[in-house]
Amino acid sequence: MRTLLLASALFAGLIGSLAAVPVPPGPAPYSAFCRTVWLFAKPCTEVSTTIVQQIQEFSPLIGCDECQYMLVSATPLSIKANHTTIEGLQAENITLSLSNTKTTGGCRVAAQSTSLGFTSLLDDGLNYCNLYNLLSVSGLNRSPGFMEMTNEWACLGYGLATCKA
Ligand SMILES: *[C@@H]1O[C@H](CO)[C@@H](O)[C@H](O)[C@H]1NC(C)=O
Ligand SMILES: *[C@@H]1O[C@H](CO)[C@@H](O)[C@H](O)[C@H]1NC(C)=O
Repeated sequence: MRTLLLASALFAGLIGSLAAVPVPPGPAPYSAFCRTVWLFAKPCTEVSTTIVQQIQEFSPLIGCDECQYMLVSATPLSIKANHTTIEGLQAENITLSLSNTKTTGGCRVAAQSTSLGFTSLLDDGLNYCNLYNLLSVSGLNRSPGFMEMTNEWACLGYGLATCKA
């Protein structure tokens, strides 16, 4: 019970701080979202090329419900895309901000997937998997030094989601 209360307090705190400080491109209140940070022991140019290629390969393949990604824009340090389900009932914006870590020659990626419109706060790990599928299919999650940093408060479904791709 105490854990639950603490959890509720933390969750309320997170919602409260998001509401108080509009952090662009933050999620609209009550939209499901996942924010995560990835570290790689390789330069951002390589990471970004792989992710952009993966998004393009994922672009609408009929019959692949996990694969409805569309690239919106890509610069060396910023990638924007979206993801829709085949039925077109749900859509999520995906934003990746890359920064080279000067001391180690690696790359840090702040990734976010946000449901558009009013959606259930129980998204079944959809937003998490939108991001993670890009890594697992391209193999980036098996590249040297890969590390993911997030938690269930920043990323709905983290730790529970079973991503299909
Ligand atoms: C997704 O991005 C594509 C390409 O920019 C755009 O044509 C489409 O309308 C976007 N879909 C949604 C649901 O935002
Ligand atoms: C989703 O992404 C599109 C294209 O980048 C942008 O125009 C739109 O404002 C975004 N919507 C939300 C709710 O962030």
